Amino acid sequence: DGEVYKYYSDGEWKKSTSGKSVNIVNPTTRKTHYKVQACTQEEVNKVMDIAKSAQKAWAKTPLWKRAELLHKAAALLKEHKSPIAECLVKEIAKPAKDSVTEVVRSGDLISYCAEEGVRILGQGTFLVSDSFPGNERTKYCLTSKIPLGVVLAIPPFNYPVNLAVSKIGPALIAGNSLVLKPPTQGAVSCLHMVHCFHLAGFPKGLISCVTGRGSEIGDFLTMHPGVNCISFTGGDTGVAISKKAGMIPLQMELGGKDACIVLEDADIDLAAANIVKGGFSYSGQRCTAVKVVLVMDSVADTLVQKVNAKVAKLTVGPPEDNRDITPVVSESSANFIEGLVMDAKEKGATFCQPYKREGNLIWPLLLDNVRPDMRIAWEEPFGPVLPVIRINSVEEGINHCNASNFGLQGCVFTRDINKAMLISDAMETGSVQINSAPARGPDHFPFQGLKDSGIGSQGVTNSINMMTKVKSTVINLP
Ligand code: G3H
Repeated sequence: DGEVYKYYSDGEWKKSTSGKSVNIVNPTTRKTHYKVQACTQEEVNKVMDIAKSAQKAWAKTPLWKRAELLHKAAALLKEHKSPIAECLVKEIAKPAKDSVTEVVRSGDLISYCAEEGVRILGQGTFLVSDSFPGNERTKYCLTSKIPLGVVLAIPPFNYPVNLAVSKIGPALIAGNSLVLKPPTQGAVSCLHMVHCFHLAGFPKGLISCVTGRGSEIGDFLTMHPGVNCISFTGGDTGVAISKKAGMIPLQMELGGKDACIVLEDADIDLAAANIVKGGFSYSGQRCTAVKVVLVMDSVADTLVQKVNAKVAKLTVGPPEDNRDITPVVSESSANFIEGLVMDAKEKGATFCQPYKREGNLIWPLLLDNVRPDMRIAWEEPFGPVLPVIRINSVEEGINHCNASNFGLQGCVFTRDINKAMLISDAMETGSVQINSAPARGPDHFPFQGLKDSGIGSQGVTNSINMMTKVKSTVINLP
């Protein structure tokens, strides 16, 4: 009906003075489904000013009160899981059930932040001076953790709600204010999520949500002098942000090419089940998706056959019908995936299923006998296409994994725990899963990427710590 969703600033829902809007295209119908405000740089300036003053008061708000409000927001989010999940279905074509799971997981994450925050921020340290050479016991040092100020949160399209709250929860419990710039696909889900914080009764201006075009407000936000910390999840844009951002802490998660190494002694059924779940859930649009299978040649035929049997059972269709494989987020994404598939075809990969695409919907595809000269051996499709590379030694697998410019997660399937540990040590990735597909959660686990996969470590505790600074007060005795 042409309604444009308002943005959130100073505790109110506002129309942008730009008079312009940004279209959100439903990936399934490929038609505009929602519209959001195209905020201006002046509006961003206003939001930053308000965020700064709101943060000062919030930092003085008792920790238990901050926690109480977060618990309230978490409960409200869970209460409103259905309408928010519906937005996820329309904006990012996430299957309906998974969309509900994302919202519930987000509520749990916020509550966990509140609980973890009161514990870790409720403690400081006490040091005495005479342990360091040349000192008498004349100095007592007290430390506590103080907030950074204004945190800018930029989540990606694939978990707009969950990866927003994974930044909002830690930021707020630690006494920061927060400015959210949602992804275009996922912006309306984010606005609904922010409404739950609004209903919970957080102080005005503490949380803001600005929508708009990256070209207009993207750099303006990330280079804004009012920002004291950026937490970003997404693609290459993160590299550009890290080059342009000022002298502020950055938390970045920028994708991966998670390898799954399958050894000869692996439980092949278990490996196959995890490869299908890891490679194809949400149509492969997860940074932690299995993105390349490196299987020992002697068990490759059996593995490929078992994976294919499971791929054949995957349902394909609209997210409303809870299909396993749903349309990928945009036409350009589908085109990119198709480019990788065609390159593999030209270079002789074995197609285990015929390649099929209708609009943004791409049928699940396993590519066997992929070789290192194919783009798909290195690039992340972010779609339901999974390459298999046959290897003749564990070293070959580790070398392939480590030659990637990414280093998010990896996994290894073997019944030999000693071997698994050695492989885990050798893999240059932020996490290695033994006998399971890569995954970020449970959300209190540390989550980090090496190399181009990111900066810093996430997970509830690490994020709270990252969004604070240590402050010392030293008592000097005469
Ligand atoms: O897309 C990146 C997400 O952080 C992955 O989260 O492992 O829970 O799917 P997930």
